[in-house]
Amino acid sequence: MVSYFAYFLFFTILLGFFFQPCFQHPLCQRDERVALLQFKESFVIDKHASSDDDPCAYHKVNLWKSQAMDCCSWEGIWCDQDTGHVIGLDLSSSCLFGSINSNSSLFHLIHLQHLNLAFNHFNYSKIPYAFANLTTLTYLNLSKSFFSGQIPFELSKLASLSTLDLSDSCIFGLDEGLLELKRPNMRSLIENMTSLEYLRLTCVKINSRIPNMLANMSSLRTIRLGSCGLFGEFPSAIFQLPKLQVLIVSYNHGLMGNLPEFHFNSQLMTLGVGITSFSGKLPTSIGMLSSLEQLYVYGCNFSGLLPPSLGNLTKLQQLVVEENSFIGTIEIETFLKLKYLNTLLLSSNNFSLDQDQLESLEVPFNDITGQIPQWISCLPSFSALYILDLSFNMLEASLPIPPFSINFFLVSGNKFSGEIPPEFCSRTSLVILDLSHNNLHGMIPQCISNFSKSLLILNLQENSFEGPIPTSWVAGNNIKEIKLGQNNLQGKLPKSLTNCRMLEFLDLGNNHIRDTFPSWLGTLPNLKILILHSNGFYGPINVPKSDAWFPNLRIIDLSYNGFIGLLPIEYFKMWDAIANVDKANTVYWHTSDYFQLMDGGIYTNPYPYSMTITNKGVKMEYAKVLEIFSAIDLSCNKFEGEILDVIGSLKGLQLLNLSNNILVGPIPQALGDLKNLEALDLSQNKLTGSIPTQLTQLNFLEVFNISHNQLTGTIPTGQQFDTFDNSSFYGNSGLCGLPLSRKCDDSKGLPPPSSTSKGNEDSGLLAEFGWKTVALGYGCGFVVGVVIGNIVFARRHEWLMRTYRIRLSRGRRMRRIQ
Ligand SMILES: *[C@@H]1O[C@H](CO)[C@@H](O)[C@H](O)[C@H]1NC(C)=O
Ligand SMILES: *[C@@H]1O[C@H](CO)[C@@H](O)[C@H](O)[C@H]1NC(C)=O
Ligand SMILES: *[C@@H]1O[C@H](CO)[C@@H](O)[C@H](O)[C@H]1NC(C)=O
Ligand SMILES: *[C@@H]1O[C@H](CO)[C@@H](O)[C@H](O)[C@H]1NC(C)=O
Ligand SMILES: *[C@@H]1O[C@H](CO)[C@@H](O)[C@H](O)[C@H]1NC(C)=O
Ligand SMILES: *[C@@H]1O[C@H](CO)[C@@H](O)[C@H](O)[C@H]1NC(C)=O
Ligand SMILES: *[C@@H]1O[C@H](CO)[C@@H](O)[C@H](O)[C@H]1NC(C)=O
Ligand SMILES: *[C@@H]1O[C@H](CO)[C@@H](O)[C@H](O)[C@H]1NC(C)=O
Ligand SMILES: *[C@@H]1O[C@H](CO)[C@@H](O)[C@H](O)[C@H]1NC(C)=O
Ligand SMILES: *[C@@H]1O[C@H](CO)[C@@H](O)[C@H](O)[C@H]1NC(C)=O
Ligand SMILES: *[C@@H]1O[C@H](CO)[C@@H](O)[C@H](O)[C@H]1NC(C)=O
Ligand SMILES: *[C@@H]1O[C@H](CO)[C@@H](O)[C@H](O)[C@H]1NC(C)=O
Repeated sequence: MVSYFAYFLFFTILLGFFFQPCFQHPLCQRDERVALLQFKESFVIDKHASSDDDPCAYHKVNLWKSQAMDCCSWEGIWCDQDTGHVIGLDLSSSCLFGSINSNSSLFHLIHLQHLNLAFNHFNYSKIPYAFANLTTLTYLNLSKSFFSGQIPFELSKLASLSTLDLSDSCIFGLDEGLLELKRPNMRSLIENMTSLEYLRLTCVKINSRIPNMLANMSSLRTIRLGSCGLFGEFPSAIFQLPKLQVLIVSYNHGLMGNLPEFHFNSQLMTLGVGITSFSGKLPTSIGMLSSLEQLYVYGCNFSGLLPPSLGNLTKLQQLVVEENSFIGTIEIETFLKLKYLNTLLLSSNNFSLDQDQLESLEVPFNDITGQIPQWISCLPSFSALYILDLSFNMLEASLPIPPFSINFFLVSGNKFSGEIPPEFCSRTSLVILDLSHNNLHGMIPQCISNFSKSLLILNLQENSFEGPIPTSWVAGNNIKEIKLGQNNLQGKLPKSLTNCRMLEFLDLGNNHIRDTFPSWLGTLPNLKILILHSNGFYGPINVPKSDAWFPNLRIIDLSYNGFIGLLPIEYFKMWDAIANVDKANTVYWHTSDYFQLMDGGIYTNPYPYSMTITNKGVKMEYAKVLEIFSAIDLSCNKFEGEILDVIGSLKGLQLLNLSNNILVGPIPQALGDLKNLEALDLSQNKLTGSIPTQLTQLNFLEVFNISHNQLTGTIPTGQQFDTFDNSSFYGNSGLCGLPLSRKCDDSKGLPPPSSTSKGNEDSGLLAEFGWKTVALGYGCGFVVGVVIGNIVFARRHEWLMRTYRIRLSRGRRMRRIQ
């Protein structure tokens, strides 16, 4: 190869030497040069035309100069050596922004064979039918370039195409692609493209069956049809395509099929059927796929055992079988043979782990005396593994010790017991350590707080850890999330937590911590969620120090503690993040929180920003909860004094719970300013006076509770107030009017008869709003959130039904399609 090239180079130089005067490749054709310049001029060059993931290079076309006569020398263009015709145009990621139609001068370049306009922004134009005039095209790439609408029928005339990439980008479950393929359907689009090798229509709305003839297109090497709305039976003959290397049909919920018996001459490297209705077993013959590097069968209906022949797939890098009904023992030995395995996601199945194996696993690596199980010697081959997710299986016995290479180690939701082995202290590559929901006990090793600056997420929630919170949080650490809730931790909060400058989420709920309010945490610039409920916190919440006012706090839960004194009014004045909820500024996730699978899926980790809620009965995954949900829960303490008007400045607040305190005085009118409020609970206090009518302006209020106070007067009517039932009000002997049975004396304030129409129906609805679940969610230390959306109250009593759900194992993934 090298020598051949050298030979070629030699000849070229030689030719150049001898024929220099007349050796000049032909200049580009004038009309084509004009067409190119016109094409360029029809766009704005906009740095934001490409997505953030794929920043564009705006100099690419900017360097095209009308002066430089030979357009063949321009960047992104190549010409035929003999004729000088432009045959290749690669303007991918060139920051082009603007509309395009069939009159574009682009279509004068009729000799084009290779055309790549991917990653630009064509302003939602339709794909011009004039592409069909470029009959010599063999490569057409319009990926992620903001075309929209129906793909034109004329494209089907491009019979010479070997590559067709019309893939769009979309985020699964949150949005969809812009392009549609209905007429032509997929079959007529590609039926005459007999040399097609690469077909990528990811995120195009195809919404049909997969045509059988795909199995007849024997040149196909790559088929990427993720998130296309495909359904029906998957034609299994496609698996037998002789040259097929990549087959991805992930995120087509309605697509059914089985994996066939494979043959050893298969060239498959990537097989993705995640989030489909594929079912059945993984055939033993899967071990024949000797080229296989990625296998994605997550979120399907597969069952049975993982075939040990997986251990034959020596090139395997990613194995993702989560969320199926696989059973059986995880044979560590199977995976130890896989040298290149870097991602092993087995969560949410019914696996168990062989106890004997586990005990062997605990043999210290450097203990070379004694009987070492045979596979231990293979451990170095595990060195590639950086993601191991065994969450939500039925694994028991003691914790397996992860390999040194590990970044994400997740074993949440099993029955692991015992203490955290000291070996964890040496796993300094850990980025995410999630041991939550197990039966672990003992002290949390001190090293956990200082062993690694790479650690971003520590989740030890719901175990039986005891003793103090580790105290050695070192300066410069990067931890974002510390979840230690639902354990038996004691003692005080370590002041070294102030070293966690990146901390966004601190959950210590349901422990036995005895301390005063940690106002010093208020210096943490990024802290957004602070959950301290159900502990032994005591004393008053004092005026914040000037630099310690929790500048980013959105959610604070201090319920079920022993706080006394006045409400922390000074903090209320300072909590800008709650006061100014910037709904526009929503981010989905930070780069460190997910990684992308080769099928376009995104693997995210248990993280406060992602959670599952059920909206109108549909379980949905939301990643931007934090940006939009804000809550203050001070219930079940001994706060006293009045609720002051200043609370009305917390305009973004959605949940305010002050119940079960000893608050006195009136309900401030200013609460009517909390326009985003969805739940207001002031029950079980000693409030007096009447209910301010301003509260009827709270259009999103779904739950309102002022029961068990000493309020008087007429219950206001109108808006949301017509939907609250009497349990919102009872226990106030001085209140009258609907929905209470006690009539008011003065006849003028009587509500209109129509509002009697609530009763049972509404309480049923209220039950479905699921605020009990919210409370429970807090009780378990989970974050609860709501979706912003177009909340439209078309008519009275017509509610947006929302059920808030605790975020659990499933649904913690967002998958984005590429
Ligand atoms: C983008 O499309 C909109 C609506 O069709 C149009 O008003 C606008 O001028 C277009 N922008 C460019 C740069 O072509
Ligand atoms: C293309 O140009 C012709 C003549 O200038 C015009 O009639 C036609 O509407 C244009 N087509 C499009 C799609 O803009
Ligand atoms: C299309 O172009 C984009 C951007 O250059 C590239 O990432 C993608 O792989 C291309 N698609 C094909 C099928 O070559
Ligand atoms: C495309 O081809 C058709 C017929 O082959 C021709 O009538 C039309 O003018 C061509 N369009 C362009 C933009 O060259
Ligand atoms: C494919 O080619 C055949 C034969 O030339 C033709 O009859 C048919 O219409 C073509 N299909 C499409 C969708 O263009
Ligand atoms: C596929 O090819 C076979 C044999 O050439 C032929 O019998 C069959 O009809 C073709 N199927 C489709 C869907 O084109
Ligand atoms: C999974 O398979 C079981 C039986 O094999 C079936 O009852 C169930 O409906 C399937 N679930 C889905 C989501 O396809
Ligand atoms: C594949 O794996 C099975 C079971 O692990 C084994 O019996 C068989 O010999 C392996 N085949 C090859 C070709 O390695
Ligand atoms: C998996 O475990 C769950 C809970 O133990 C059980 O309900 C379910 O039937 C099991 N599924 C299979 C396929 O064994
Ligand atoms: C971590 O803490 C332990 C115990 O406090 C201490 O011995 C060790 O030096 C600390 N390590 C680092 C890197 O700070
Ligand atoms: C307020 O807190 C109390 C006690 O924690 C709880 O019972 C109640 O359900 C909460 N109210 C709302 C609306 O969440
Ligand atoms: C209001 O709170 C009381 C307890 O304080 C509870 O019994 C009642 O169900 C609550 N009502 C509503 C609507 O939440």
